[in-house]
Amino acid sequence: MREQYDSMRRHFRQAAEQRGFTLAPEQERAAERLCLLAGELSATSGLFRRSRPSPRNLYVWGPVGRGKSWLVDTFFVGLPTTRKRRLHFHDFFRALHDGVAHEGRSREGGHSAVDRAVDELLGDCRLLVFDEFHAHDAGDAMLVARLFHTLLDRSVTLVTTSNHPPSGLMPNPIHHHLFEPTIQRIEERMDVLDVSGPTDFRRLPAQARGSRRFAEGACLTDRTDALLGEPGLSAPRPDEAALVPVHRRELRAKSVRADLVWIGFDELCEGITAVPDYLALAERFGTLVLDDVPPLAECTADGRQRFANLVDVCCDRDIRLFLIGADPLAGLPEGSDLLRDPDRTASRLAMLRRADVAR
Ligand SMILES: Nc1ncnc2c1ncn2[C@@H]1O[C@H](COP(=O)(O)OP(=O)(O)OP(=O)(O)O)[C@@H](O)[C@H]1O
Ligand SMILES: [Mg+2]
Repeated sequence: MREQYDSMRRHFRQAAEQRGFTLAPEQERAAERLCLLAGELSATSGLFRRSRPSPRNLYVWGPVGRGKSWLVDTFFVGLPTTRKRRLHFHDFFRALHDGVAHEGRSREGGHSAVDRAVDELLGDCRLLVFDEFHAHDAGDAMLVARLFHTLLDRSVTLVTTSNHPPSGLMPNPIHHHLFEPTIQRIEERMDVLDVSGPTDFRRLPAQARGSRRFAEGACLTDRTDALLGEPGLSAPRPDEAALVPVHRRELRAKSVRADLVWIGFDELCEGITAVPDYLALAERFGTLVLDDVPPLAECTADGRQRFANLVDVCCDRDIRLFLIGADPLAGLPEGSDLLRDPDRTASRLAMLRRADVAR
């Protein structure tokens, strides 16, 4: 147990040194708790003494860019077991929806389709890292409630990150009360770690030059900018138009060049697309160029949310993202509810170069 704790401490130190990070005090505290969890997991494994209860679940929350995903990813990588799984919120729901659709809604032997889908996802794993957890609409809330019920009852330790404290999940007052039993369950069964330091690390200048591929992308005001100094980014020719298969459908791309796909905003964000389509693109392409981007304040509510989800997927999957058109956030009033989590999108877009910023 002690050995695993020490080894995880070393792993965190090395990971921070490698990236040149000085951890915020809130991150230090969270890292310490994760190291303790590594020790606890080793005590219940090796290979797993069933008599011991699973270690307590952790719920790591804080505003955008505080380094929560970095903390839990570092922990995940440093854990010497294969019986672990890391999922982003969007992956999880795609898998769950697919599983539920596949199984149908029938019950067999008291085992619901959600339970089966969760079983399928977890396999024999003992640790699940679930990054960027949130619940916004009533549909999500029902699935999440069921999911937590199932997860917390299994001998799987759950580590999750969120931008909201448990009590702030499902902020919509119309639906919030429906979620209260789940919130209570989370508060009872998970240790809550608050990582609300003052710094959004994505906004540090060094971060904009960081080694992530996502941060190599840019927000460009017109195509001429795109032609400047970016190999492979010449404007698409009409004969390059191609259909690209995504999740159960095809999208009309303006160009597909090896690892790069070039698509218009209307096709990708104003068409009937959803997160599984963006995940499919992210699985096939390393660079995504989205052109004809309007100011988000001027497009439909669905278009705005699809765009925010697309940015989330590209950032999580570390896809190089080029946006050509207007500054998407220009004109979006401060504190506006035009976008569900405007801070999330703004924090991620802050990593991209601007047309008027020198490389
Ligand atoms: N102590 C630090 N110093 C500098 N950069 C850091 C530090 N910790 C994390 N980072 C970097 O800051 C960026 C944001 O971190 P991360 O994605 O983990 O934030 P987050 O809290 O998960 O944000 P969100 O809530 O928006 O998902 C990442 O590129 C990460 O590598
Ligand atoms: Mg995160």
